[in-house]
This record gives sequence, C-alpha cells and structure tokens, in this order.
Amino acid sequence: MMFHAGTLSAELARAEQDYLDRTPRSAAAQARAARVLPGGNTRSSLWAAPYPLSITGGSGCRITDADGHEYVDFLGEFTAGIYGHTCSELEQALTEAHRGGFGLSSHTPYEAELAEELAARFPSIDLLRFANSGTEANIMALTAARLVTGRERIVVFAGGYHGGVLTFGSGNSPVNMPFEFAVLPYNDLRAAEREFTASGDRIAAVLVEPMQGAGGCVVGTPDFLQGLHSLCNESGALLIFDEVQTARMAPGGAQERLGITPDMTTLGKIFGGGLAFGAFGGSAAVMGRFDPSHPDAIPHAGTFNNNRLTMAAGLEAVRRHLTPEALQALFARGEAFREALNARFAARGGAFHVTGMGSIMNIHAVAEDAEVRRDRLRLLHLRMMERGYYFAPRGLIALSFPLGEAERAGFLDALDTVLAAGGANSEA
Ligand SMILES: Cc1ncc(COP(=O)(O)O)c(C=O)c1O
Repeated sequence: MMFHAGTLSAELARAEQDYLDRTPRSAAAQARAARVLPGGNTRSSLWAAPYPLSITGGSGCRITDADGHEYVDFLGEFTAGIYGHTCSELEQALTEAHRGGFGLSSHTPYEAELAEELAARFPSIDLLRFANSGTEANIMALTAARLVTGRERIVVFAGGYHGGVLTFGSGNSPVNMPFEFAVLPYNDLRAAEREFTASGDRIAAVLVEPMQGAGGCVVGTPDFLQGLHSLCNESGALLIFDEVQTARMAPGGAQERLGITPDMTTLGKIFGGGLAFGAFGGSAAVMGRFDPSHPDAIPHAGTFNNNRLTMAAGLEAVRRHLTPEALQALFARGEAFREALNARFAARGGAFHVTGMGSIMNIHAVAEDAEVRRDRLRLLHLRMMERGYYFAPRGLIALSFPLGEAERAGFLDALDTVLAAGGANSEA
C-alpha cells in the first residue's frame, strides 16, 4: 500500500487508522488483558498506543499476530532473542534437563559448567553468581560494590538503563532503588572527573553500559570508558560494565573489543538460552565475599538462581550457538546492515539515521522539532509493520542468528518503498 501525498500528520493519522483496521484481534486481546493487568500490560517497555500487537506465535525469525499477519522480527526480543523464536538444539537441551528432573532442591552440575564457560570468556570475571534478570544482576553488583568499598555513592549516566528499578532515561526515576546516585552525562569524561574530584572518596561504583542500549544505542567512546577505568582505579571505586546487551559483541563482550577490563561485569538476556537470566561477576577478592562458608558472607538467595532448565539452556547456548565465529559473524552482519540503512536514509534525504554497534542498532528521526521526530519515527514504524517488518516503536533493531540475507535485503527494499511514498520524510 502506497502513501498518499500529504503532510506528516495527515499521513500519520492515516497510518494509525490503517493499524486499527488491520489489528482488531490485537485490540480485543488488549481489552481482555486490561481487565486483569493494568492497561493490559505487565512489562512497561512493550506499551505503545493505541495498543501493541498481540503475538500468538513465532518460528525462526518470524512472528505472527492475532490477526494472522506475519512479520520478520528485527527486534529479537529486545536483544534477548538472538536464537530466533524456535531452536531445535535449545529445545532438546531443555527437554533433556526437564526429563532429568527440574527443581532438584540443591546444586546440579549445570551451574558450575555454565559458570566455567562464562568465566573463561570474560577477563573481568574470576567468580560469578547467577540471578534471574539483568536488573537483579545489577542490583547485586551495586550492593557488592557498596559493601566491599564501604561507600554509598554510585555514578551512573543519563540515558542509562540497567533494569526496571535502575533506569536513568530522564534523571533518577521514582521507582529506582533508593541508592545515592550521581547521574552524569554519558560520554563526558570531564563531568566524571569533576565528580571524582568532588566526591571520589565516597564513590562505591561506576555503573556503565559500553553502549547505551535503551538510551538509543549510543556508543561509549573508548576515551570515556578508559577514563572511567582510570578514575575508578585511582579512587578505589569499582567499575561495573553492564554488558546485559553488549555481551554479544564478541566472545568476551564489548570489554574484549575495547581492551578494558572492568572490576565487575553484569550479564543477562542471551545467556539463558531464551529463559530468564542474569549474572554478575568480578575478581575473586570482590566476589569471594559471597562465599557462604565465611561467617561474614554477603547473602544472595534466590529460588531460581540456579534453575536447572535455565542453566541447561544457557550451557547449550554458550557452547553451540554463541561460538566466537558465530558472534564475530553476527557483529559483522550488524555493522554492514547499519551502514546499508544509513546509506538508504541518506539517499532519501536524511530524515533518519542509525546508531549502534554490531548487531544492535537504533533508528532515529532527524529534525529540529521533537514532535516531528516522534511522528516521523512512528509513521515509519507503522508503515514498516504494514509491510511485514517488525522492530521497536522507539527504533531499536537487534539482529538474530536466523535473520538472513534475504530478510535484511527485504527490510531495505521495504524501507525504500516507505520512504519513496513520502510522509515519513515530510516536516509537519
Ligand atoms: C543494558 C541493560 N541492563 C540491564 C537490563 C535489565 O535486564 P532485565 O530486563 O533482564 O532485568 C537491560 C534490559 O533491557 C539492559 O538493556
């Protein structure tokens, strides 16, 4: 379906009406859910007005909505879905673990094996502990830093996202953990230096994403990240790299690419092989404080910390899917795709541009006016969905292993069609 000529707002109104017309079953699913879930929602990041799609199934890199429309999924479960939506090897590993008994009331061999694999990959990790989410991993890493250093203050960065209760998109959030946060501008080493000059002896940790994922795929400059490393070293604070998203950039994560070894690393998303996962690790000196055989050990309990199914799926994922070759190749595909997107956007007037690293990227609308930016992206998103290409309303794209050459070429062609139709390029 082509755009009619017209202004951005008129095109957007048309696209929104088209969305309502083609997704009545998603509307009905939303209405039903809203009777028992506030706003029909139990995961804030999925909300998009008028209602998000109700997805009823998926296979490989494709998903299907309640009205039977198929989409090529370029969102990849907000980066956690690197394996696509079905994977026979993961299914088999899970089935075997399930058959062997799950919830076995104690340790099982899987957890040490998965820990060995991860510790071998990340130079910053001698010892690690498992948790149930990236959020929990970050909470525990910060808690460890506060207890080990005996300090309270935590440096984070505007636009940073470290979990539902550690979110700094617009300053400190009312639902955040009640820690003493200093929220500094990202990629601004001078501001960090000033903070350390003023409060260096009170800073327990600096928590930073090597690339701000939810913040719009803003890549940390090597100078900034290296500078933070030096500031932490000099002051005795711990540098924590949140690699919940960026771990996929290389076998040893973004820290391997950067050649920086932080004091602690937090992980999540992909290492659970599709199941809920988190992990935090660091030096033996810091992480050894959790050794429960010591009388003053830091406690860290959790029924599902060593969930046998998660550990089994994670082990299969790390050993057979997240191989160095597969991760390097995915990184290269991502770099090439981002360049191709930027070339298409530039050729069509530069109304959008794409930032990111490797296989994770974000489309941004370019305009002086914030409303124009918002409407442009919304129109692009709706029209791309109509053509069967799915990514986050905020512009996030995360490539998965099963997304092939044909799907990526198809996305670029669909983009051309949408941009050629106008509307998304116009001003008002
Ligand atoms: C960089 C980063 N850290 C932490 C988290 C939180 O992970 P989870 O959603 O598993 O709690 C996320 C989730 O998107 C993330 O992107």
